[in-house]
Amino acid sequence: MNHDQRRIIQAVRGHWHIHPGGESETRDLLNAMDLVSGQRMLDLGSGFGATVAFARANGLRAVGVDLLAPSLRLARRLHPGLALVAGDASALPFRDGSFDAVTAMCMVGFLSDKTAFFLEVRRVLRPGGRFGADVYTLRDSKSCLARPGGMAHVISLERLLEHLISAGFQVLAVEDLGGSYTESYRAFLEAARRARPELDARFGEGAVDDALSAFRANIAQVLEGGKGGARVVARATR
Ligand SMILES: C[S@@+](CC[C@H](N)C(=O)[O-])C[C@H]1O[C@@H](n2cnc3c(N)ncnc32)[C@H](O)[C@@H]1O
Repeated sequence: MNHDQRRIIQAVRGHWHIHPGGESETRDLLNAMDLVSGQRMLDLGSGFGATVAFARANGLRAVGVDLLAPSLRLARRLHPGLALVAGDASALPFRDGSFDAVTAMCMVGFLSDKTAFFLEVRRVLRPGGRFGADVYTLRDSKSCLARPGGMAHVISLERLLEHLISAGFQVLAVEDLGGSYTESYRAFLEAARRARPELDARFGEGAVDDALSAFRANIAQVLEGGKGGARVVARATR
């Protein structure tokens, strides 16, 4: 997705949180993790920095990591002074036990090797530290694998929880977000429809369609019920 497409998507959303549910879901995830002001938090796949900025505004010492240089550049422009590091969430440049909390919003579905990822998250967490994630979940693996798009490595909730437990986590809470994902994408498409004349005038005819094309398969899978979502909170047991 190029910079103009990003600006169009942001204009439709009206905020920089990329995950379904926007800032209110960020708040709900951090609340569910039971964090305390001053704690060290790491946000993986930090995107445009909205989760890190929200955590910092709420008293956490938050750091973000993302793989993509353009996202990091934009995040730094949007939030000067935010602690953002270029890196791969499965091979983190931090010492063992560096964080009280790790978040991953709408990014686990990008990772092909979940075993390496969850072991790495557990390594950088102190014992007893919290992991909190919003994840897409597969309801019917065959239908989704037949229509790849966006996140190629989404798995079922059951499989995801097995990975967490194998890596040394105790699962504390799971909230089904399927309904809110559906609602969120309906609202997104409606907002895109309403904003289209203004965005076409601003960015050029067809630009909105073009920007949306990157999302179409993912949105269709959610709206057709092939993909759901969940909020998961877990505790590092070692
Ligand atoms: C859908 S966006 C979500 C961004 C942000 N968490 C949010 O909800 O606003 C997924 C982000 O994960 C990042 N990402 C994907 N794989 C990654 C990896 N292996 N390590 C770090 N970041 C990764 C992408 O670059 C992208 O910025």
